[in-house]
This record gives sequence, structure tokens and C-alpha cells, in this order.
Amino acid sequence: MDLFEYQARDLFAKHGVPVLAGEVVDTPEAARGAAERLGGRAVVKAQVKIGGRGKAGGVKLAADPDDAVAKAGQILGMDIKGHEVRKVMLAQTADIAEEYYVSYLLDRANRTFLAMASVEGGMDIEQVAATKPEALAKIPVDAIQGVDKDKAREIVAAAEFPQDVADQIADVLVTLWKAFVAEDALLVEVNPLIKSGDGRVIALDAKVSLDANADFRQPDHAALEDKAAADPLEAAAKAKGLNYVKLDGEVGIIGNGAGLVMSTLDVVAYAGERHGSVKPANFLDIGGGASAEVMANGLEIILGDPSVKSVFVNVFGGITACDAVANGIVKALELLKSKGEDVTKPLVVRLDGNNAEEGRRILTEANHPLVEQVDTMDGAAERAAELAAAK
Ligand SMILES: Nc1ncnc2c1ncn2[C@@H]1O[C@H](COP(=O)(O)OP(=O)(O)O)[C@@H](O)[C@H]1O
Ligand SMILES: [Mg+2]
Repeated sequence: MDLFEYQARDLFAKHGVPVLAGEVVDTPEAARGAAERLGGRAVVKAQVKIGGRGKAGGVKLAADPDDAVAKAGQILGMDIKGHEVRKVMLAQTADIAEEYYVSYLLDRANRTFLAMASVEGGMDIEQVAATKPEALAKIPVDAIQGVDKDKAREIVAAAEFPQDVADQIADVLVTLWKAFVAEDALLVEVNPLIKSGDGRVIALDAKVSLDANADFRQPDHAALEDKAAADPLEAAAKAKGLNYVKLDGEVGIIGNGAGLVMSTLDVVAYAGERHGSVKPANFLDIGGGASAEVMANGLEIILGDPSVKSVFVNVFGGITACDAVANGIVKALELLKSKGEDVTKPLVVRLDGNNAEEGRRILTEANHPLVEQVDTMDGAAERAAELAAAK
């Protein structure tokens, strides 16, 4: 999960990385009070989860509280590379003498962590990295050893930071590593890390990406989620403990187990090419258990997506046998009907594996007008694509 700058800045502050005071507002008028509390002058910064805000006009200096209202008005509602600005942060202004770059990230290819640092930070860092790779130091960081003062000095030396800021930057690198580990981050980036006119080193921008796999031990992270941006069906699925991903096609997909669901996406996309290019609309992994309730929840979510024209339920019975899944489907359809959400879209069901015959018999007997069974995965994908195309 990527954070907004203001959230990342809060995490930095919590762990002792030097940052400037700031406040977040979502209306131009609210910028006045925030600017006043920051001493009148402030930098107004678009809060969007994409870089390059400065170049896009999303970072503006406000001379006084009136100007802050005007600048916030210009920035709120702006579109920055497809991201609508719904909040701005007002930050204390810094007197910038130099702009540096530092980051830590997970280096998957080399199975390690990586520190990156450069004396040429600022808005052109991508260009520096592309055209002057020697100006961007890259130092592997051992996961167990981490970054202590010695390691920090090694990074400072590799990036050739000036002597007068070397010690301060080493301190920042140590605290930034603490933040990286404590928050289970995949990326922490400071660009620019500045030297101010009076010689202080301060993080002026903050970028953090958190590892969602660690959510179970990071109870505070749930509050950082941007609920306004979440797909409502994805949020509903998450609340019900289901793995649902919205895609942009027409065939809804329910399967058990991530591997089967992934390959179902492929066969549906492939079959769809023969039927007016229909594609998967979403996918939902009901996991190991497929009780009536889980199936009802799953169907409710999949059918709640207006772009879904047909649904493909692809189940390979393992620990959860196919007869249980079939009963789940039958009961789910009854449950939805009793809730007034009667199913009107065709369902193609393929059952295989443990107790498949009994499962098929149950569905045949239930004889629901919208449920069709196909024995093979390819055949079922073909039929689901055909039904979606016909709608
Ligand atoms: N608080 C601040 N005071 C003064 N200048 C700032 C401040 N925050 C950002 N800037 C300037 O704006 C530039 C872009 O801001 P930054 O937060 O890095 O956004 P982005 O990386 O999205 O362009 C910085 O490189 C810096 O020169
Ligand atoms: Mg930046």
C-alpha cells in the first residue's frame, strides 16, 4: 500500500526522521487557518499517490494565508497523471541550499535490501539515474545487520555527501532504516532530503510503500487506507474476508484457490477472443471452504458488478468436496432470492475433483434455470464467454 506524503511524513516524524511541520486540508478555506498556524508563509502540496507533483504544478509557495487559500483552490481538484487531488498539505517553507536523495527498498532480484543515495536529488532524480548512473550510489543492506552508524557512513561515503552534512545524513539514514523495519515498508524514499540555509538536514518529501503482508502485525496501518479511492465491491469483499479483484471485462469468475483462479482468467481471456473479445470482469477466490454463506457472499459481490454479463464458477474439489460446493451454490441462489437479489445472469459451473459426480447430481437436481454445467474447464470458459457476448 502506497501512502500519501502526509502519512509518510507522519511515520518519518514518529521514528525521528527530521521533517517540517504540516497540516492537511481538503477545502481552500481551511488552508487559511493552517497557513496561519504555520506562520503565514507555507508551501501548498497536492496529496496524490504519484511522483512529479512539483513539475505538474501541484507544489506551490503561498506568501500568506490569503495566498494559501488561492493556491489550495488552484491545486484541489487538479488532475495529476490521472490522480484527482482531494487533499493538500500545507507545509512550513524550507530555505533550500542543496537537494539530496536517499531511499531504502526491497531488491527482489538480488534477494536483499538496497540503499540508494545521491547528492543530485530533487525533481530530476529519474534523469540522473538514467543518464548519470554513477551519481546514484546503490549499496546492498543485509536484512539482519540493517543500517547502523557504520553502515550509514558507508552509504554517505559511497554517495559522496559533503563533509559538513555527512554526520547528519548518517543519522537520518539510521533513523530512516528504523522506520523502514518498524513499519514493514517495501520502500521509503526521501527526495529531496535537503540541506537548509542554516545547515540542517531535513526530509522535504516523503514516500512510503507498506507491505500488506505484514498487516496482521501492524494494526495501525488499517487507518492509513484511502477508503475514498477503494473500489466499493473490493471493500465489501475485504470486509467479508474474500479475495476479490476488479478487472474490466464481462465474465465474472469465482474459483477456489489462487492458482486455479489465475488459470481460469487465462482460459476465459483466450476463449473470449472468439466471442467479441469478452474478458474477465473480476475474480474472486473463495479459498478452501465453500459453504453456502461463502458462496452467497461471493456471488453477491460478483453479481453486484454491473459489467458482469455471465459468471463462471470453476471449482476443483479438494478438502472441500464438490458436493459441499454444489450445495453451497444451490443455497446461495436461494439465499440471494430471499434477500430480493434474485440472480438474473447466467452461471456456468464446472465441478471436478473430490466428489465431482455427486456435486453435479445436486446441481442437475436443483435445476436452476440460469445454472449450466460444463464438465471441462476450457468448455466452461468457452460457454461463459459465449453467454457474456450474447448479452
Ligand atoms: N516545504 C517546502 N519548502 C520549500 N520547498 C519545497 C517544500 N516542499 C517541496 N519543495 C520544493 O518542491 C519540490 C517538489 O516537491 P516534492 O515534495 O519533492 O514533490 P514531487 O516529488 O512530487 O515533485 C522539491 O524538490 C522542493 O524543491
Ligand atoms: Mg519529491
